[in-house]
Amino acid sequence: MNPEDLSGILPPSIVELELSQQRERKIPEQVTSIYSSFRPTPLFRAEKFEEALGTNCEIYIKDEGKTPTGNHKPNSAYLLACLCKKDGIDTITTETTGNWGIALALASREFDLETICFIDSESHRKRPDRKKAMENEGAKVIVVEQDNKCSDLLALSADAAIEYTKKLKNAAYIFGSVYGYFVIPQSIISLEAKEQLEGIGKYPDIVVGSCGGGANLLGASAVFIDDKLNHRKQIEIFSTESELCPILTKGKRGLYSIDTKGFFPSIETYGLDGVVKGDYIGGLGSTIVASAAANLYESRIIEAKRYTSQQARKAAELFHKTEGTWVALETSYLLAGVIDKAGKNRNDSKVILATISSGINDTQFYRGLK
Ligand SMILES: Cc1ncc(COP(=O)(O)O)c(C=O)c1O
Repeated sequence: MNPEDLSGILPPSIVELELSQQRERKIPEQVTSIYSSFRPTPLFRAEKFEEALGTNCEIYIKDEGKTPTGNHKPNSAYLLACLCKKDGIDTITTETTGNWGIALALASREFDLETICFIDSESHRKRPDRKKAMENEGAKVIVVEQDNKCSDLLALSADAAIEYTKKLKNAAYIFGSVYGYFVIPQSIISLEAKEQLEGIGKYPDIVVGSCGGGANLLGASAVFIDDKLNHRKQIEIFSTESELCPILTKGKRGLYSIDTKGFFPSIETYGLDGVVKGDYIGGLGSTIVASAAANLYESRIIEAKRYTSQQARKAAELFHKTEGTWVALETSYLLAGVIDKAGKNRNDSKVILATISSGINDTQFYRGLK
């Protein structure tokens, strides 16, 4: 992609970040000082969960549920809001299934920006608490009615948000995953987790992440992927996804956009024609994934596996019963993957690292499952 493909769509500082070839990026001090009010997020060993699974594996949980919005999204939200402010933007618009919008609203308020979040009607019905949470952080929220043509709820809201943004002055539409600008700040998760594990003399054998657009997976494993690529360590990077949107295991290589109308330039990555009808899967219903996730899956640096919503629900229930914490539905897929890996390595004392991408309680969703 060239800068011209993105200028006019994204603010210049975000275009620069997106296309940067630098190996490391400095996060502005304004943002790191905000991070330091809630980071490092805790890392704990889930011993009761291990016990219930009857495994010799050690399971360490990096808890991004302990950010101000209870999910990993503020890591990107603060940086993006800061860059928008620097570039003279007044209003940020976005799509969300509920979690990202809350973080963006909070971050925008910090930088005195207006936020307009577009949420699809199914997400709003399934997680009615999210609209209120976004509004509480000062955002305006627009509910987008579903149509039968588009099964990717994020793309549907993206279409509506982009159309709306065209009519505004000094406004930027920011998609909440997939792009490098969103993924890069998430690498703080693995930077911290590596240090925290080193502090207790551990290094993970397996890192588990859940994959929608790929930001959580790549952020939670970035530093370990670097070790693997440079042959410093042998490590499994394991992505979990919903069987209804198997973006890595069944995605096809091609050119895909985050919207359905070709507003945003296409990127070469994996995509799916649609999401299979079934239980609600929230942010795991993205039919486009970050190019890095697609490339790393293709070169077998990342493995991936599909799970059913029942497996995900059971995993969340067991985690709650043993560790006393509910997780958001996207994270429950990751826990299903942890159970799978801990079971397969039952007699080995492998170190498994998993990130709670959100600790927001989605129990109303679990009750709705058959
Ligand atoms: C809590 C949570 N975890 C994971 C995801 C997956 O998205 P991504 O792969 O972009 O991190 C989402 C997406 O909305 C989410 O809200």
